[in-house]
Amino acid sequence: MLHEHLKKKLDAISEQHLTRVLRAAESPTSPHQTVRNIDGVGQERLMFCSNDYLGLASHPQIGEALAEGARIWAGGSGSSHLISGHTLAHEHLENRLTEWFSPFIPHARVLSFSTGYMANLAVITALGDSEAEFFSDELNHASLIDGMRLSKASVQRFTHVNVSELREHLISSTAKIKIIVSDTVFSMDGDIGPLPELLRLADEHDAWLVLDDAHGFGVLGHLGRGALEHFGLRSDRIILIGTLGKAAGLSGAFVAAHERVIQYLIQSARTYIFTTASLPAVSHALLTSLDLIEGEVGRTRREHLLTLQNQLRVGLTNLINSHASLGWKLSNSSTPVQPLIVGSNDAAVILATELECAGLRVPGIRPPTVPVGQARLRITLCATHTESDINRFLGALEITANRLETL
Ligand SMILES: Cc1ncc(COP(=O)(O)O)c(C=O)c1O
Repeated sequence: MLHEHLKKKLDAISEQHLTRVLRAAESPTSPHQTVRNIDGVGQERLMFCSNDYLGLASHPQIGEALAEGARIWAGGSGSSHLISGHTLAHEHLENRLTEWFSPFIPHARVLSFSTGYMANLAVITALGDSEAEFFSDELNHASLIDGMRLSKASVQRFTHVNVSELREHLISSTAKIKIIVSDTVFSMDGDIGPLPELLRLADEHDAWLVLDDAHGFGVLGHLGRGALEHFGLRSDRIILIGTLGKAAGLSGAFVAAHERVIQYLIQSARTYIFTTASLPAVSHALLTSLDLIEGEVGRTRREHLLTLQNQLRVGLTNLINSHASLGWKLSNSSTPVQPLIVGSNDAAVILATELECAGLRVPGIRPPTVPVGQARLRITLCATHTESDINRFLGALEITANRLETL
């Protein structure tokens, strides 16, 4: 009976072409990676799917720093931060990030987390008490949405980046505590949120501004400090979540906020209190990652990313125009996340499959991750891609587009 119940659900997922498949990589994260196919055979693929935007995951200094961290700190932290898992490695990382964010957040303090998902749940559930109301962009990341579902606060969604709709909601709200929540770079669209306007509204309505900078940290800003540096924002209303498993090339996350907010998270955030602290070796290696992000390596890699982005957008625009009957669209993205919106689930699956046959891996993203009718290829660029990698992708896409047009 129980198994029958699950089988029906799995069949329904499969009928909608929404089955997700796990594929194991045989080599480290990089644009050229060996990945096992469904028969378990390793094949080299040109990858456009990781969030390792600066290519730091395979940077030799990161591997060395991780090994050094393991020599100093050995294995796991053994318990949660508040019991005995909090080490000097975590504290050095938090202090360094506090320096990074002090120009943007008065009286800043940083708290580290094992993942961005946990950091988002922490902030949202801790702030979202019964006196609070969230004002949330409809395209916010699942972890923010899950946090709101778990919280005791009410939730008002606003249409993606629609600042005037947000203003109306704020005006009519009677909640004592108002909390605006937004991704900085939207993970499936790559566009950057209207953060200066959001901060202006937060000031006008005495609201917190919770920003998830998972895809901005390391990528945006001259020094790679992310969306706050990009826009030059400064406020003690801002609560910023950054992740360290994307551009930073390792894993983990942090919350940067006024020290009172951090103190409150330490006292009350369940995903901080009731989980084992991350490996100290990772925190140790993250210091090297921060050096790379703000130094010459980061600067030149961010410049190269911009070159690749432009090359890709020009190529995709030409391709869309010359295959107008397919109805494909580019999103308004100025970041390394460059989706090609193809509409139906079938089209996304066919494209991803054909590209795979040509030796490229580009994920087809379907509902519920994106709205129905907006399935897409989510193309992500890394600074370790080359211009000829982009040309190879565009060439393979052109062949598939020609075939699809004749179907
Ligand atoms: C916008 C956004 N926020 C949070 C997360 C969660 O971060 P993590 O992978 O560190 O859990 C992700 C991605 O995974 C994300 O895309």
